[in-house]
Amino acid sequence: MVEGCELMGTTLWIVDINVDELWETPEIKQAADYLCKGEVIAFPTETVYGLGANATDSQAVKKIFEAKGRPSDNPLIVHIADPKQMKELVDEVTPVGQQLIEAFCPGPISLIFKKKEGVFSELVTAGLDTVAIRIPEHPVAFALLRAAGVPVAAPSANRSGKPSPTSAEHVMDDLNGFIKGVIDGGETGYGLESTVVDCTGEVPVILRPGSITADAIKEVVGEVIVDPALKDEKEAPRAPGMKYRHYAPDHPLYLVDGTSELLQSFVNQFKRDGKRIGVITTRENQAKIDADAIIVMGSQADLSSIAHSLYDSLRKSDVLDVDILLSLCFPEEGVGQAIMNRLRKAAGNRVLTQADLAK
Ligand code: TXA
Ligand code: MG
Repeated sequence: MVEGCELMGTTLWIVDINVDELWETPEIKQAADYLCKGEVIAFPTETVYGLGANATDSQAVKKIFEAKGRPSDNPLIVHIADPKQMKELVDEVTPVGQQLIEAFCPGPISLIFKKKEGVFSELVTAGLDTVAIRIPEHPVAFALLRAAGVPVAAPSANRSGKPSPTSAEHVMDDLNGFIKGVIDGGETGYGLESTVVDCTGEVPVILRPGSITADAIKEVVGEVIVDPALKDEKEAPRAPGMKYRHYAPDHPLYLVDGTSELLQSFVNQFKRDGKRIGVITTRENQAKIDADAIIVMGSQADLSSIAHSLYDSLRKSDVLDVDILLSLCFPEEGVGQAIMNRLRKAAGNRVLTQADLAK
């Protein structure tokens, strides 16, 4: 008998991630069985929750796009349990790819290779001749992939245009009634999606920044290129998904490039125009801000704590009774690059500086 409560057709399985041999528990076995039968299942990874389907089954993969409302020209990442499966899926594991696998897999990184023809549903790769492969390290993701035994295509388990989910609750808020089930393994750790790296050439190219940083990659392979589109809006991004304006909160978000005093000056300026202001800020800056609503997101001293709670904070901001949201910029070093990449998208690139303050 499998314990799980069913709401409007979506089963929620709550699992204890500390159990040994999780892949043999009835909850994981049932979820894996649904995956193999062509259903879509949401599951936790160490980055964000994913919405998985058998990557070799077009009918199943189609359900991912339908549930998310995702554009079909945006390819999906394929998840596997073991690097040994790689050779059945890709044409060639390049030398840089091999180095990155050895250094970071399993972990929060997706590696792009030339795909083997005839393995994946065409919907997974959106017509490209490459495929992104990820080996997650989360015990639930690993158990599910091991129990299912098939490569699993999984984008983040949010409705398109919402922040990626970092808890089962976020997934239920977006997709309850639209998918077969959700495995609840608690909050995800890193909180931002994996670093996406093109490994088809001699030098790896970062297409999406994540918790595995450019410096960490450089340390392993000696050289790394960051897709110029990540810095310059006029460049066309090489990861199709990066062109969409994801992660948009319901209230317009403005980033402030400066101190918390400058941010407070903008709060005051907007208030003079009759606006209600919400501020997303760190524990250290909380006491320095006077606004209509404040959401506290991690500690300034630990950028990974900000990455961990960024999406939850953006989701919380949607229910605030405010007109405008403000947040300070973060230093663009280490995981700060990924944080600022997501924040800039959420803000539609609106960044205020001292020069924008009315005299
Ligand atoms: O952490 C993650 O990566 C999560 C978890 C669930 O694994 N997944 C995730 O998937 O963030 P998604 O679909 O939200 O983002 C996939 C990104 C998109 O920007 C997509 O365009 C890019 O990876 N991508 C996938 N396959 C690609 C390919 N063959 N070439 C270039 N970009 C690719
Ligand atoms: Mg996504």
